[in-house]
Amino acid sequence: MKLDKSRENISSMFDDIAGRYDFLNHFFTANLDKRWRKGIVKYIRSNNIKCDMLVDLASGTGDMAIELLNLTPLKIYALDISPKMLDMLKKKCDDDRIIIEVAESENMPLESSSVDIVTIGFGIRNFSNLNKSLDEIYRILRPDGLLIVLEMFNLEKRNILFEFYFTKIMPVLGKLISRSNTAYSYLHNSVMNFKTVNQFIDLASNHGFIHEYHKNNFQKFVYSVFLRKL
Ligand SMILES: C[S@@+](CC[C@H](N)C(=O)[O-])C[C@H]1O[C@@H](n2cnc3c(N)ncnc32)[C@H](O)[C@@H]1O
Repeated sequence: MKLDKSRENISSMFDDIAGRYDFLNHFFTANLDKRWRKGIVKYIRSNNIKCDMLVDLASGTGDMAIELLNLTPLKIYALDISPKMLDMLKKKCDDDRIIIEVAESENMPLESSSVDIVTIGFGIRNFSNLNKSLDEIYRILRPDGLLIVLEMFNLEKRNILFEFYFTKIMPVLGKLISRSNTAYSYLHNSVMNFKTVNQFIDLASNHGFIHEYHKNNFQKFVYSVFLRKL
């Protein structure tokens, strides 16, 4: 199935579900998403990685950006193409270290080599131009800077339980609660059309990132991937 990942389509889809996104996110992951984000912060802290200047790309309602505040950074840029998702972040948190801007992964309002860490939580799968986005992330990161991707990757092997949950349960409940006809069937298709974790790591290496570590958060499906700019 061909997915429409144009900026217009993706931003309007997330604008439509913005008010119910957090509830659905926590509901469908049984709150594990919170633990996965905390795990990223723990990794950064325990490895003593410099974190003055951070970017949470595809920040949405900002749960990752808010979690990153625990690292006491100087600034966190929360960037997203959906103004309504970002409005939810504004309502949740008014810490002036978080700078909220509508911006796309392919063209970020930041200087080259100015960022210590870029995080992307459940966003990269939706990027319309993944190659261009990886180049742009590479540009803004400082040498040795870290790209951290929390994502649902395509499965290496078929998993009947996963397919049942994603094709039968999630679209029905997602439609009922989010009142969007498309968002939660898009979710399944976007995962099935995305790369496996190893394919993603290979692709990132073609864009100058070296694989540092990846963690299987859930069922060899949800991973945190840590990549370093060469
Ligand atoms: C599933 S939400 C994730 C939100 C948040 N990061 C989280 O962890 O819950 C995906 C977000 O990616 C944003 N997005 C999709 N493509 C994007 C792009 N090319 N550049 C910036 N944001 C994008 C969407 O607008 C949406 O808010």
